[in-house]
Amino acid sequence: MIPLTVTLAAAALAGTAGGHFNPLHHSGAASPYFDAPSQFGISPSTPPQCVVDQAAYIVRHGSRYPEPGSFAGWQALFAKLQNASYTARGPLAFLPSWVPPVDDIPHEPLFLSSTGSTEAFSLGVQLRKRYRFTAGGDNFTVWAAGQQRVVDTATYFLQGYLSQGNYFNEPEKNRGTIVAMPDSVNYTFADSLTPSTGCPAYGSGDTSSKANDYRAAYQPAVARRLNQYLDGLNLDGSDIAVMQDLCGFQSEIDGDIRFCDIFGESEWKDYEYAHDLNYYYGSGPGNPFSATVGYPWIQAVTGLLLRGPDNRRNGDNFVPPPLVMSFTHDNDLPPVVSALGVWNSSLSPGIFPLSTNGPDARRTFRSSNLVSFRGYIALERLSCDSQAPPSEVEHAAGHVLPAPGTTASAEKYVRIRINNAVVPVPGCTTGPGESCPLKAFAAHVRERLAVAGDFVERCNLQDVMNATGTLDIFTKVPSEKAQSFTLVVPQPYAVTVP
Ligand SMILES: *[C@@H]1O[C@H](CO)[C@@H](O)[C@H](O)[C@H]1NC(C)=O
Ligand SMILES: *[C@@H]1O[C@H](CO)[C@@H](O)[C@H](O)[C@H]1NC(C)=O
Ligand SMILES: *[C@@H]1O[C@H](CO)[C@@H](O)[C@H](O)[C@H]1NC(C)=O
Ligand SMILES: *[C@@H]1O[C@H](CO)[C@@H](O)[C@H](O)[C@H]1NC(C)=O
Ligand SMILES: *[C@@H]1O[C@H](CO)[C@@H](O)[C@H](O)[C@H]1NC(C)=O
Repeated sequence: MIPLTVTLAAAALAGTAGGHFNPLHHSGAASPYFDAPSQFGISPSTPPQCVVDQAAYIVRHGSRYPEPGSFAGWQALFAKLQNASYTARGPLAFLPSWVPPVDDIPHEPLFLSSTGSTEAFSLGVQLRKRYRFTAGGDNFTVWAAGQQRVVDTATYFLQGYLSQGNYFNEPEKNRGTIVAMPDSVNYTFADSLTPSTGCPAYGSGDTSSKANDYRAAYQPAVARRLNQYLDGLNLDGSDIAVMQDLCGFQSEIDGDIRFCDIFGESEWKDYEYAHDLNYYYGSGPGNPFSATVGYPWIQAVTGLLLRGPDNRRNGDNFVPPPLVMSFTHDNDLPPVVSALGVWNSSLSPGIFPLSTNGPDARRTFRSSNLVSFRGYIALERLSCDSQAPPSEVEHAAGHVLPAPGTTASAEKYVRIRINNAVVPVPGCTTGPGESCPLKAFAAHVRERLAVAGDFVERCNLQDVMNATGTLDIFTKVPSEKAQSFTLVVPQPYAVTVP
């Protein structure tokens, strides 16, 4: 474990490193994807004596248009700005000409934006280059919750990940499979990528209304400050809510960042902190059922990492690829943080649970660095030699030397990366790059069961038919309990050239 003083200093710098304050890195769930700053000073590069031989990701869908509910808020703001006669000055002089950035109302709200498609495609490219696991990528399988924007994210990911070269003449050599399943239903229980709706008790642990109280407390003063620039129109707290959301959303929809420029740094930090409180107390460690619903994914993935990339076990009908990709929604990521027990440092008294009075710069739980669009939690299995590669190497003709980490004596380790940044496993950082030895990681996961509890029992499902606490989708394709089904990407097509 790194010394406390180092942890705190690094945490205090997070977010301000580089000097220039960027509101798009402090917009919580409205932030387009960005690599999170290192909170612990650990390089995200794979250590030189290691290779990643297996990895599992759980990913939020890419940037999207607003949900219909928040779009109604944008339209109400537009109506208010257009309906009145007033003078707008200085930073607000653009308001009379602003129109909401949705130009196809029946088709855009809810769905991915072009930025979201790009984020998904570029993650595919990035992971193919980072791991170089599957040659060509024929029939590479990924998993997705069934809502259209999630399946679309998986689709664009696959198109970025698959080798592009053969699409035109041999598309069948470059096909991906998406294992999709019902999204946010209550009848697949833990066997789902949206398990919280399968836990009837979960809602009773959700105290995210603390975030609304926090918003109601800071927004009126922001409205008063901005009203100095208006004669004949009065902004209120709910207008501030919409205008701050529009920074992240409008930047990813059409690149317009005028709403980003009208708020000050402390106003952005209050906005971000309201998102933090929302996720911490809604789906994160502040909800006592959070770890319970996040645990089945961790348990399933840890089982795969223990077996290694190619092993089949009795009863399985499917061997997942070495890169296991799960696509889902924002609220399904904080439960995985809770189940892993990261970002909940009891070494920092007074920081957790998050205070409703205001942000503490030392907190590690930051929504912007987790549930940004296309945000992710990744577990990487590292295979490492005991020493860094030598600086001088003999080559015998006709013999390719094994790459670092690929010999039989290589040891296995695990690292957690959240939006690229390495987040140490609590109390387990003895491996290369502060990784955790695989067996110790598995022991940590077993210990976390004491916090997570049994899904069926904690969620009060003992008497419910078919209730399950196990996620089997990665080794059963299709899975009966998860009601999973497969989709082929790209769809078979034929091009007729005249
Ligand atoms: C528009 O203005 C009229 C008259 O001033 C007012 O009654 C109405 O509530 C306004 N509508 C909106 C959406 O602000
Ligand atoms: C591709 O993989 C899926 C499982 O993800 C399987 O159902 C399907 O049969 C495979 N297709 C081919 C052509 O191998
Ligand atoms: C699932 O939802 C339906 C409809 O609201 C309800 O009747 C049913 O009892 C729920 N099932 C569980 C296990 O909570
Ligand atoms: C977070 O830490 C607190 C204090 O150490 C502990 O009581 C709580 O159970 C932890 N939450 C989770 C989800 O691990
Ligand atoms: C339980 O699962 C079986 C088999 O999949 C299914 O036929 C049945 O409808 C399920 N029962 C309930 C209550 O969901």
